Amino acid sequence: MEDTIRRLEQHHLHIVDQQTHPLDSADKTRPDTPTSATDDTTPSTRSSSGSDDTSLSEPALFTKGLPFQDEASRIRAEDHLPSPSTSTATTPVPAFAKVQYELVTVVGDREVRSDMPLSSLQQLYLPIQEDAYRHVDPETKTLSFPHQPGFPAVKMLPNQQRKRILVTGGAGFVGSHLVDRLMLMGHEVIVLDNFFTGSKRNVQHWLGHPHFELIRHDVVDPFMIEVDQIYHLACPASPPHYQYNPIKTVKTSVMGTINMLGLAKRTKARFLLTSTSEVYGDPEEHPQKETYWGHVNPIGPRACYDEGKRVAETLTYSYMNQDNVDVRVARIFNTFGPRMNEHDGRVVSNFIMQALRGEDLTIYGDGQQTRSFQYIHDLIDGLILLMNKNYKEPVNLGNPEEYTIREFAEMIRDEINTEVKITGRPPIEDDPQRRRPDIGRAQRYLGWEPKFSVNQGIRETVQYFKKTKDEQTSYQN
Ligand SMILES: NC(=O)c1ccc[n+]([C@@H]2O[C@H](COP(=O)([O-])OP(=O)(O)OC[C@H]3O[C@@H](n4cnc5c(N)ncnc54)[C@H](O)[C@@H]3O)[C@@H](O)[C@H]2O)c1
Repeated sequence: MEDTIRRLEQHHLHIVDQQTHPLDSADKTRPDTPTSATDDTTPSTRSSSGSDDTSLSEPALFTKGLPFQDEASRIRAEDHLPSPSTSTATTPVPAFAKVQYELVTVVGDREVRSDMPLSSLQQLYLPIQEDAYRHVDPETKTLSFPHQPGFPAVKMLPNQQRKRILVTGGAGFVGSHLVDRLMLMGHEVIVLDNFFTGSKRNVQHWLGHPHFELIRHDVVDPFMIEVDQIYHLACPASPPHYQYNPIKTVKTSVMGTINMLGLAKRTKARFLLTSTSEVYGDPEEHPQKETYWGHVNPIGPRACYDEGKRVAETLTYSYMNQDNVDVRVARIFNTFGPRMNEHDGRVVSNFIMQALRGEDLTIYGDGQQTRSFQYIHDLIDGLILLMNKNYKEPVNLGNPEEYTIREFAEMIRDEINTEVKITGRPPIEDDPQRRRPDIGRAQRYLGWEPKFSVNQGIRETVQYFKKTKDEQTSYQN
């Protein structure tokens, strides 16, 4: 126990040290992974049915039907230790200290073979390569696909290491970046998407690749396929989209998750649910730890999403306890990056598009509500680590740097257009006042923490949005 307290104290010191880059001191401050939560990165041999029952080789964190015993209780006890940085939302807490980040040029983690130069991913979403796939002619107002350039080179993996991976919602913002990484890592990827908020364009550079398949399908309906891993992302994620048809949103979360868990059970595939920080609602605890049960209005405008995801988590652990499905749950905090839908009403895309159009940046309420923004590649690193490590309880993935919405608007204004003003509008119902992940679990059990500064992420995202805006302007003129 003393060890644990020491580790948490070290972790806290590490977080509050404004001068130190988190990675500079990672080896000294990152607590050791507990021996029982051993890494499971050794590729499994694919069985004849295509299943990947790696649970056989893993120490049992949960005993079937009797969850949260022994090891899990110990982990929970650690999680419940008073964290020096945890407080109630009513206590004034200074915004999280901003750390100095270095420019990232390599993403991923060598241990799970997801490491690669950032430039190999950038070629798939930054403007230069886009031009190679699409040609917009402003004269004739036509769009053509002159030739399909060669596919990006993917890693060559021996058969027993190459997994068949299903990504539901793989044509969306997060999904398409996950697909890029898994493809470049050398796996076979099948995307299931109904294109409600996603787009073929996000994955067009893989269409026709022998390792890639895109299937139009709604996860509310059952689907059969042989796979080794399932990343279950399908669900609209922005308020205007999930509130457009709340009943459908609940169906997607509940029936979609049942269908994918059923598939995981049948094929013995490992299943990862992308849950959300919204399960914490408008939190009374700050920052939010995974042990916090949340403060959600079950009948408010956000309930279809928040409660839908809470049930999705319940289903996930019920399939684990009742049917021994090998599960992972990521609770994702605000994430931004290229390929975000510019019309989806999320704060990052709103501010960037407003600044690019020379319009005022709109803030709802007084702008003192806080958010933490994580760059997309950090999230993808975390998801792949979580899938490939042996940790089954929910894990927060987010950047603990906390900004007020006003601060964030100022950053974007300064990056794009200092002429525009920041104006206020009435607050939105049930808008959470504070959001910041406690990433202690991710640090301890995955060896993960964000590497990208918000500024580096914003610069890339602005570059991407500029290109899409220019293309639209050429259609309209
Ligand atoms: N982006 C974030 O900040 C964030 C934060 C927390 C959680 N998440 C979670 O991550 C996942 C991906 O989010 P995103 O930001 O990429 O959203 P997104 O809207 O860009 O992607 C969702 C994808 O799911 C597809 N989809 C929606 N309903 C479907 C259905 N019934 N059947 C098949 N496909 C369907 C959409 O067409 C889209 O391609 C979601 O589960 C979301 O809840 C995202």
